[in-house]
Amino acid sequence: MLARRIPRNPGPDAVSKKAFVKSYGCQMNAYDAARMADVLAEQGFSATDHVEEADVVVLNTCHIREKAAEKVYSELGRLRVLKDARQLEGRDTRIVVAGCVAQAEGAEILHRAPVVDVVVGPQSYHRLPDLLARSHAKRVVDTEFPVEDKFDHLPARRTAGVSAFLTVQEGCDKFCAFCVVPYTRGAEVSRSIAAVVAEAERLAAGGVREIGLVGQNVNAYHGLASDGGTATLSDLIRAVARVPGIARIRYTTSHPNDMGDDLIAAHAEIPALMPYLHLPVQSGSDRILAAMNRKHTGDAYRRIIDRVRKVRPDIALSSDFIVGFPGETDAEFADTMRLVSDVGFESAYSFKYSPRPGTPAAERADAVPEDVMTARLHALQALLDAQRHAFQRAAVGQVVEVLVEKVGRRPGQVAGKTPHLLAVQFDAPTSCIGRIVPVRVVEAGTNSLFGEAIEAAAAA
Ligand code: SAH
Ligand code: SF4
Ligand code: F3S
Repeated sequence: MLARRIPRNPGPDAVSKKAFVKSYGCQMNAYDAARMADVLAEQGFSATDHVEEADVVVLNTCHIREKAAEKVYSELGRLRVLKDARQLEGRDTRIVVAGCVAQAEGAEILHRAPVVDVVVGPQSYHRLPDLLARSHAKRVVDTEFPVEDKFDHLPARRTAGVSAFLTVQEGCDKFCAFCVVPYTRGAEVSRSIAAVVAEAERLAAGGVREIGLVGQNVNAYHGLASDGGTATLSDLIRAVARVPGIARIRYTTSHPNDMGDDLIAAHAEIPALMPYLHLPVQSGSDRILAAMNRKHTGDAYRRIIDRVRKVRPDIALSSDFIVGFPGETDAEFADTMRLVSDVGFESAYSFKYSPRPGTPAAERADAVPEDVMTARLHALQALLDAQRHAFQRAAVGQVVEVLVEKVGRRPGQVAGKTPHLLAVQFDAPTSCIGRIVPVRVVEAGTNSLFGEAIEAAAAA
């Protein structure tokens, strides 16, 4: 999945100390990584993309599948060599393991990887300065779910860009049988509308035009409203849409059972809410969905999609799929393929089932053989790829509104995203970064569209 480095951010007081923060896993981890960079920036650490020059290295880890979790240990192996080499030069390197592996494995990480100085969970990273200071005397672990709210203790946001994530809800009460998130992130908690709007205003003041509202189960959002009542995600989207400067809003990740009528209606009513929905379904088989404890059927999912498409016919859909859940038969996998054919997705993530310690599904004895899982994953991905390419090809010839985010791959080019989250590259000066430019799509590449700005004035 996405691994993201935090952009360079030299603060005024940053002279020599440097921090390297690398994030694995979901958008919430990306958000947390940005906030850890903020915490470190306040301590005088400027961000670096070069791990060799870092005085603090933070690995913000993901525990969702075995491969993701194991990646941390190979990375720590490399860091050990680096730390030793720097030590010979008389330079100290603090190694921090944060995120969901930290939460799940805690002190075990210290035993397995002597190079680690600090283990810190997703709810405690506001304490990073204190933990780093204490680690000189003794290696430390902090995986508490503290009584204080980390958001109240984080410094103001510094790292941003044109498009930024903003965590509005954390944790999950759904307990899908395969998933570690309810254990690593705890119960559902929502931030208040006021706190989210204040952070959105800060981001907008720093030049952010697009906000991705992030939560493990973001459409279960139930934050404190300004009138003292409880707000839903659609209320929150409306409030963020009123923040001057914010042109685009997205949200992720949603659960089908929390797709309320008001949220669906919001897709028709709020112009800033982009026509894009990531709604994981996992499987198209009702028996497998029940075994996964998803509490919805394949048809219930189809009906939700029908309702969304009724109010927003051009919506682009995205989803997550797991193949080879224990006991999944060929016929049940065929149900997943049928659902994909019926619905049609612009993009999707698909994974082989990975048994995770502590989850109910990991206890099951009817594992699907690896070769069968591999064949199913290939078949599913071939179908999803074909749908993605068809969606991209359909954009050729159209004029799309591109929010320009950064310089493009080739000199003279800039890169941005369409409302449907398709990446577009086109020739324009860098002065249009942060602006929405109408672009005619002329070609569809594998991962990007190529286009021409149609208004000379817009690209000037
Ligand atoms: N809260 C979100 C995302 C959870 S994690 C949701 O409810 O959809 C992101 C995706 O990882 C999941 O949607 C699922 O497809 C996948 N995933 C989670 N646990 C997994 C496991 N044990 N094996 C394989 N894939 C898994
Ligand atoms: Fe995991 Fe299910 Fe919660 Fe998503 S809804 S985070 S898949 S338990
Ligand atoms: Fe991974 Fe934790 Fe996110 S397990 S997907 S980083 S919530």
